[in-house]
Amino acid sequence: MKLAPVFYVRLICFAFLMFFIQQSINAMNLATGENLDRQKCYECHSKKVAFGDGDLIYTRSDRKVNTIANLSRMVSLCNSELRLDLFPEDEVDLVLYLNQTFYKFK
Ligand code: HEC
Repeated sequence: MKLAPVFYVRLICFAFLMFFIQQSINAMNLATGENLDRQKCYECHSKKVAFGDGDLIYTRSDRKVNTIANLSRMVSLCNSELRLDLFPEDEVDLVLYLNQTFYKFK
């Protein structure tokens, strides 16, 4: 069976479209994660852990979190223990943001 060239053109356009949609969803989730961190997490971390820098808790040399599973657990724990009222999707966005920005687990 031979397909018309226009079919391939459409297929490629579709693939590109999906790729860009995926990229923008990813960027949106990252931005949500960053906002949530700034609103709900940053201040306490900066007071409790160090020098008015709420990012330091994620990059300090003796940080507690060392796997992605641990990171999810810790985000859930801070959320439920402290009654921050985050939705599960918020936690996912936070984990994505914290991992891409600080932890960089594969
Ligand atoms: C009321 C204070 C407070 C708030 C609010 C808070 N945390 Fe924490 N968080 C802590 C403290 C204190 C630690 C350090 C615990 C330790 O060292 O054992 C911590 C540790 C962590 C760690 C582990 C850091 C490491 O060592 O690798 C993560 C991840 C984390 N918090 C995520 C969050 C997220 C995400 C939020 C917001 C949704 C949040 N926390 C809100 C107090 C807070």
